[in-house]
Amino acid sequence: MTPRRVLVIWWSQSGQLKTVAESFAKPFADAGHEVHYVALEPVTPFPFPWKVNTFFGEFPETVLGRPAPIQRLALPPGDWDLVVLAAQVWFLSPSQPFAALLTGPDRGLFVGQRVLTLISCRNMWVTGWRRLVKLVQAQGGMVTDRVVATHSGSVFASYFTTLAWMLTGKRDAIKALPAAGLGSETFTRLAELGRVAAERLGAEPRGAAPAALLADQVTATVSYPHAAGEQVVGRLFPVFATIIGAVTRPGTLARDLSAVALLCFILSSVIGLFVPFVIVEVLFRRWVDPWLDRLARLPVA
Ligand SMILES: Cc1cc2nc3c(=O)[nH]c(=O)nc-3n(C[C@H](O)[C@H](O)[C@H](O)COP(=O)(O)O)c2cc1C
Repeated sequence: MTPRRVLVIWWSQSGQLKTVAESFAKPFADAGHEVHYVALEPVTPFPFPWKVNTFFGEFPETVLGRPAPIQRLALPPGDWDLVVLAAQVWFLSPSQPFAALLTGPDRGLFVGQRVLTLISCRNMWVTGWRRLVKLVQAQGGMVTDRVVATHSGSVFASYFTTLAWMLTGKRDAIKALPAAGLGSETFTRLAELGRVAAERLGAEPRGAAPAALLADQVTATVSYPHAAGEQVVGRLFPVFATIIGAVTRPGTLARDLSAVALLCFILSSVIGLFVPFVIVEVLFRRWVDPWLDRLARLPVA
């Protein structure tokens, strides 16, 4: 085993993404690799728990890719054999701190760099992950792998439990439903994927072209109502963001009102679209299953 240098970049409000990053990366250190963690630091911290107006108030800047700035990174010198980006999805887009990293003064870090994207979010990750890949590629990086950790339990209930968690800071804010967030089985799976990736990284010949480490592993799952929902709202979000961004400014009453309107739109689309999508899934399983399978095995190109 040849020890390699691994950089893990993470940011988390609740601590969930930090645990995701550590669960995946610990096996690299256990295998003898040098692992360096760096946390992103927004210049002005985002609130947590959120209020309805601040949560939905971040929608235009997030979707339009105009993130609030982060502090410069303090990194040890030298090249990295692997960069792990442990990022979350916000409004079907990369969260603002990661968008800020990939468009800000430290973006040069990614030139010629092999990147493993480690996504953790509620369940709608496909569009946000694709946008993250584009940002990495625009900086000359190569995304070779993707691991996705999504919240456990019923996908319908998680809409409400995740929002309640974000607005109260409590995972079990809705007592009648299962707690929000990732289940312990996900951390076990992340540790196993990390072990496989660490072993393969150590076995690579020095100077070899950066290759995927987990190409043959199941690294993501997709639910049909979510994937189909992304097809619909993913097209509408940029239109809404452009309009709201053009006519309102952050912190104004107009932005607060747009936040409430967005909440109403999202709740009504969840309730209005979920059941039809479940019916489509049941009736057309023959076509739905191969489509989901293709999404879950997205080629990282
Ligand atoms: C503003 C905001 C928007 C979010 N949008 C999405 C989304 O579009 N899809 C999704 O699956 N999860 C979404 N989430 C959940 C996050 O991806 C993530 O799971 C949650 O914020 C916990 O991450 P943390 O480690 O930063 O606390 C959103 C969270 C926030 C705060």
